[in-house]
Amino acid sequence: MKAHSGEHLKVLLRRSAIEKRVRAVAKEITRDFRGQRVHLIGVLKGACIFLADLVREIDLETSIDFMAVASYGKGKESSGQVRLNKDLDTSIEGLNVVLVEDILDTGLTLSYLVRVLSQRRPKKLKIAALLDKPSRRIQKISADYVGFTIPNEFVVGYGLDYGERYRNLKDVCVLALPPE
Ligand code: IMP
Ligand code: MG
Repeated sequence: MKAHSGEHLKVLLRRSAIEKRVRAVAKEITRDFRGQRVHLIGVLKGACIFLADLVREIDLETSIDFMAVASYGKGKESSGQVRLNKDLDTSIEGLNVVLVEDILDTGLTLSYLVRVLSQRRPKKLKIAALLDKPSRRIQKISADYVGFTIPNEFVVGYGLDYGERYRNLKDVCVLALPPE
């Protein structure tokens, strides 16, 4: 796909590598929750493509729900504040919950969500993040399932956006912006 004017895309993770890794993560989840039902909660909008691929590779009884949060606004930098824009449709009390996120960056979003969700007494609460940028962490939090650990670069594709664009890229790409 062509980059928007002045912007430049460089492939970091190919579609084939992502597919393989998503299958492996699904296998781990299937093994960890053997014989039980898992309830996947996708964090909109970035996690929707990861969740769609992940849930189809999990060989268990599953259900899905979504939450929407806003923290980043339009650009690359987080505002540092998290706001809940859409809550769950149903209760998670007593359920094995896997919170599915596109990327664990500063950790502000996931810390907020873990705080909110753990108050609702799920049986288990695990985190699956496609990408992890540990060098950026502000809040001490880690994911139970990680697709790829990546360096401190701004990435788009496979659900991740820059100003709502590029979510439809099949590969995860590093986005370079034109000098201001
Ligand atoms: P955190 O709260 O800083 O951990 O960031 C969480 C959210 O920031 C993610 O769910 C993404 O929506 C966004 N984000 C963080 N890093 C990137 C990136 O490299 N590309 C696109 N979005 C990102
Ligand atoms: Mg997101």
